[in-house]
Amino acid sequence: MARDQTRYICQQCGAAHAKWGGKCDACGGWNTLVEEVVRVAPKGLGGTKGRLAFVGLAGAHETMVRRLSGLPEFDRVSGGGLVPGSALLVGGDPGIGKSTLLLQVAADQQRGQGGAALDCAYISGEESLDQVRLRAQRLGIMTAPVQLAAATSVRDIAGALDRADRPDFVVIDSIQTMYLDQLDSAPGTVAQVRAAAQELIKLAKARGFTLMLVGHVTKDGLIAGPRVLEHMVDTVLYFEGERGHQFRILRAVKNRFGPTDEIGVFEMTDAGLAEVPNPSALFLGDRTDQVSGAAVFAGIEGTRPMLVEIQALVAPSAYGTPRRAVVGWDGNRLAMVLAVLEARCGVEIGARDIYLNVAGGLRISEPAADLAVAAALLSALSFEPVPAETVVFGEIGLSGEIRQVGQADARLKEAAKLGFTAAIVPPRRGRAKERAGDSGLAVREISHLKELVAQFEGPARQPQRASGGARP
Ligand code: TYD
Ligand code: MG
Repeated sequence: MARDQTRYICQQCGAAHAKWGGKCDACGGWNTLVEEVVRVAPKGLGGTKGRLAFVGLAGAHETMVRRLSGLPEFDRVSGGGLVPGSALLVGGDPGIGKSTLLLQVAADQQRGQGGAALDCAYISGEESLDQVRLRAQRLGIMTAPVQLAAATSVRDIAGALDRADRPDFVVIDSIQTMYLDQLDSAPGTVAQVRAAAQELIKLAKARGFTLMLVGHVTKDGLIAGPRVLEHMVDTVLYFEGERGHQFRILRAVKNRFGPTDEIGVFEMTDAGLAEVPNPSALFLGDRTDQVSGAAVFAGIEGTRPMLVEIQALVAPSAYGTPRRAVVGWDGNRLAMVLAVLEARCGVEIGARDIYLNVAGGLRISEPAADLAVAAALLSALSFEPVPAETVVFGEIGLSGEIRQVGQADARLKEAAKLGFTAAIVPPRRGRAKERAGDSGLAVREISHLKELVAQFEGPARQPQRASGGARP
């Protein structure tokens, strides 16, 4: 017989503890344990015989019909449209625009279907109907066939959806406000979030509608409540962006029906989210030519090439420990690039304050940005601009060698499309070399970081240090 017991559940990772403690043993989070009543099943299977039939891989399966939304940027991230019977989780900071995005996606559903209206339901647990209507008015989608409800009880919601004439597309905003009345825990706790999501996902699979859950993100960047939520859904999308910028980026971090790493770029306007079909032009929009400390990186986000400007500032340090401030890139990688510049190329930069910024509020995680970061740093240090109309990409190894990166030709093509005339790239071999001529750019291949350092005169090129034995 299952019994109710008190357990202390970590609100961050979902681990259950028998006793309260200040720290969760499973994830190391402090002050995350909350008392909840859970149903503990008896150990073992109780002797009942289960049944399971195996089948082969090759068998009949239903063909997946994807539903396109009216927002191509959204469809790109979801892997080419929404799959019926699937569950998506959209996470993001409060106020970033999740509710706006999903209301727009719900309203635009029918356009993607060539006029065949899809039935969409938008269930808000956070805002009143008036608030949602006001937003719809602002977005100019008052007439869209979206059914609106304000509810937080999963029992009510399930009752309304567990019917043959249920909507095809259901938005729950947000899963943290939903609760099941069988559980004693408060809404937003791990037990509630998990149970509510499980119930709704089960229903979506059984009834074949697409379920979109909104999830809040904690200070640490995790979807608030349990990590388990990410395992339960088919697709996890993060909606991110810098507060001060109008750009918003939708990123797939898990997708059972398509590739991840794909991003969709939106701009928050006074009439809602507008799609940005050519992000490179936007990210480079405010660029001023021929200033020192800036380099244009030709990156790849998902399958799409994207040019962004990397800005660096190098200043004398007023303190013993120099300052490092990085926005939009990994601080550890910056430390590595600085160390390679210092130890392998004899550039004295480590003792100075360094500020690095990826313009436009984009976050880059590609190692291919190393060389562009190095170019921006060297340019800032020497007060000499990077050569005009030049893009840079390449990974830097610890010995200072420049390593190849993927999709070099796509990067070069995008650069050519936006009017760039030159590129500094890693040495290309084999097939990449054969295709090199296509882009029409003046391509300069460098195999060691020293070749880039040599390009900048002035303080960037310091005499080799006495201890420069590490220099190859
Ligand atoms: P919202 O969708 O409520 O964010 P979330 O659901 O992620 O908490 O959007 C919040 C912000 O978006 C709000 O600060 C105002 C801004 N906004 C606009 O700039 N233009 C618009 O048309 C709308 C609807 C919102
Ligand atoms: Mg909201």
